[in-house]
Formats: sequence, C-alpha cells, structure tokens
Amino acid sequence: MNTLLSASATPNPGDGEGELLGEVLSIRGGRPLTGRVDVKGAKNLATKAMVAALLGEDVSVLRDVPDISDVQVVRSLLEVHGVTVEDDGEGVLRLDPRGAVSAHMEEIDAHAGASRIPILFCGPLLHLLGQAFIPDLGGCRIGDRPIDFHLDALRAFGAIVEKLPSGIRLSAPGGLRGADIELPYPSVGATEQVLLTAVRAKGTTELRNAAIEPEIMDLIAVLQKMGAIISYEPNRVIFIEGVDSLRGYDHRCIFDRNEAASWACAALATDGDIFVGGAKQQEMLTFLNVFRKAGGDFDIAEDGIRFRRGGALRPVVVETDVHPGFMTDWQQPLIVALTQAEGESIVHETVYENRLGFTRALVQMGADIVVHPEGIASSDRRVPRRALEQAAVIKGATPLHGADVVVPDLRGGYSYVIAALAAEGQSTVRNIGIIRRGYEKFLDKLAAVGADFDVIG
Ligand code: EPZ
Repeated sequence: MNTLLSASATPNPGDGEGELLGEVLSIRGGRPLTGRVDVKGAKNLATKAMVAALLGEDVSVLRDVPDISDVQVVRSLLEVHGVTVEDDGEGVLRLDPRGAVSAHMEEIDAHAGASRIPILFCGPLLHLLGQAFIPDLGGCRIGDRPIDFHLDALRAFGAIVEKLPSGIRLSAPGGLRGADIELPYPSVGATEQVLLTAVRAKGTTELRNAAIEPEIMDLIAVLQKMGAIISYEPNRVIFIEGVDSLRGYDHRCIFDRNEAASWACAALATDGDIFVGGAKQQEMLTFLNVFRKAGGDFDIAEDGIRFRRGGALRPVVVETDVHPGFMTDWQQPLIVALTQAEGESIVHETVYENRLGFTRALVQMGADIVVHPEGIASSDRRVPRRALEQAAVIKGATPLHGADVVVPDLRGGYSYVIAALAAEGQSTVRNIGIIRRGYEKFLDKLAAVGADFDVIG
C-alpha cells in the first residue's frame, strides 16, 4: 500500500546536512537561461585522486581541480596529516605526502566537514602509518549513507576496526593483505575504498560487483600512473596486484558529468540555450538519450556540448541506476524540467532511499508531484527493483510561481535555483552555501547565463 506524500505548504525545512551555510538568493524567474558555462574536473574524482596522493612516495600534480568546498575539506584533512598542498590558483594542485604524520582525532574531526570523503583515507593511512581515525561522516542527507561495505572490505584486508562515539579507529598491526571481496551493491565509495587499499596490500585482490562509473575508471588511471597494477573484466570484476611502492602522478581530472547535466536541465527547464564547455558525449550517453526523449536538443562540439529545448517538452519514465544507467545525481535537476512537460512522468529513484524529499518545495512552487515512498511497481522495468527505492510521479505542465525555500542538499539545492529561474515572480532560496560544495563559481555561472538574482544574505 503506497502512502502518498503530497504537497506540503511549508518551506522545505532545510533537512540537508543540518548545517546552515548561509547565503540567501533573491531570484526573479521567468526568462530563459542562455550563454556559456565551463565545467572543471569532477568533484567525485578530484577529491579521491587527492586522497590517492597519500599513497605516493613523491609529489603528485592534479589538474582541472574545481574550487569547491569538498576539495577544501580534503585539502585540510591532508594538511592535518602533514601533506603539503600547493594551489596555483588555476586549478592545479601540487601534493607532497613525504611529510605525512599521524594526526590527532580532534584535528581530524575539526576538518572533516560535511563530507563523506574522509572514509577513503582509511587504506592509505593504514599503509602509511599503520593506523587511522575517521570521524563520523557528513554528506548530503539523501539516505542513511551507511559505510558497512567499506568496513567489511577493510576487515577483509586485515584491518582491525574499532567503533568510537565520535567515529572509527582502525589499525593494521600485521599490514594489509590482498582480499577476495564481493560488494552487495556496486557502491562507488566502497569500490574506491577497495582500490585505495588494495594497491599497496600484499598479494592480489579480486573485487566483484564493482562500480564502474567514469570517475572510478579515472581513479584507476591515476593509480596506474602511480605504478599500480589494476585490470578489470566486463562483468564488474576488478583485479588489483599489490605493489611495494607507488610514485606520484600527474593527472588531469575527468570533467564533471553531474554539473554538465545540471546546466543541461537548466536550459530545458527555462527554455534556454546553454553551451557547457568541457562536457563530453561518451560519459553522458545515457543522459543525452533521456534529454532528447524529454524534448531537449544538443550539439556535440570539440570543446563542449550545446544544450537547448528542441520543441515542446515531453514526459518520460526514468529509472536511476549505477553506470552506465541514468545517474541518481541527474534526476533532481531533470524533475524540475519535467514539471513543464505536458503529461505524466515517473522517476524511479533506485539508488537512495530519500532523494525525492526536495520535491516538496517544487510542489510549494506549483508543481504537481507525488512521491511514492515504497516506489511504484511497473511491468517494463530494466533496473532490478530495490527495497529502498522510491518513485516520483510528475504531472505537467504546471506553471511555477516564486516561493521561499531552503536548500536541502547539493543537487536538490541546484534544482531549487533552476525552479526559481523557471518560475514566474520572485523566490527566496536560502542555504545556498551547500551548493558551493559541488558547483564551482556557481553565482558567476548563473550570471553568465543571464539569471536575474541578488545575494541578500
Ligand atoms: C557517490 O556517493 C557520490 N559521492 C554520490 O554523489 C553519488 O550519488 C553516488 O556515488 C552514486 O553514484 C561521491 O563520490 C563523494 P554509493 P557514495 O556508495 O559513494 C549504499 C553528489 O551529488 N551503500 O555508490 O556514497 C548507499 O546507501 C553525490 O555528488 C551501503 O548500503 O554512493 C546507497 O544506497 C551525492 N553501504 C548505495 O549503496 C555502504 O557501505 C549507493 O551508494 C555504501 C553504500
């Protein structure tokens, strides 16, 4: 029996990370966004490659690093552990791990911020120092965000895991050895955990049911540059042969697919025309198919992709999935555009159990969206049904009007800004600071595509 969540008149209660990062925008909507934005390196690769630098015995250089708060969090965690990080101000980081030392729990806790990346320090710190302390994790509140896959994998490598009130302490008195690991779900983070631990473990690691997102493959490229021996087979099996030492790397990050998709949806929702510099077709094939089915049009250029509406928007049925499926990070901005499509769309969110809560604020702005907390059974599914999945039914087209809303999480927050720009009238969008976690120079880019807004708090 589906109990349907429907409209709630109150502003979204800001059930994001629970931290108010300030910054309030007053936005006047109703006009198309047109212009050019350039995306830098992927948030979900750059932060992991920075952690990988800990494994090297000399300096690493990372290029196209976005200036976002998630990168700052990892930088300060590295510095707390004695790594020197130099930033040339143009997106190039120089990371020198040769002074790495243990850090105090309080210092680590103070710098972990609202991020999940600290969990990926486990393997490298265990190899380097024989111990690690990881504070309780932050990250977008889009579900429980458990780390059981991570801890099970670390134990399989021989780590001793001790849960403390403020986090987890790990040790590996006898060093770490290669393991045989099968993930219950192709988890991006857990796959990264295994990769960052196995490359220096003694012996070979076999990882089954691994995530294979482009950002994962780019992390494998980084590790291979460092001297790691990693091979992967078609059926999500990855083999890692542990080596005794790794050197530094010089790597340019893969572009940020999630940011590129976000701006594409902004063009769709506002009947705009946005060129996204740095976007590449290969890594966005699935997104481009859905974008076209929803009524979008795109031109692939050498240096980016031009996104615009190709006519009337059309309703679509989308199931989020692991790569090469439709990424869960893409559904939130897409839903805003689907409120303007004539007809009924369905988004099955199969990756996270609470990533549709942001729609409450869209309903407040006039959208007709009903969330089914147990999901919706449907015959023509391609993605296996998961117990935790939810579904949103979006009926359009419904004109959106301005409202006062609070950003709940990173992608939901970006979606609120698009919705305010697509709406008639003025909106107030609070807690914009969360968006800074994943979108570099966000306000500059909004201005570059002609958005009409003021920062009022
Ligand atoms: C990464 O999160 C990304 N974050 C997310 O992007 C992205 O949505 C997600 O991968 C899926 O692609 C970063 O890379 C920093 P998962 P991650 O482990 O690694 C369950 C954004 O907007 N799970 O693939 O945390 C989990 O609850 C962010 O940029 C366990 O049960 O995602 C979820 O249901 C949001 N136990 C599923 O697996 C575990 O130990 C997928 O999670 C780990 C995960």
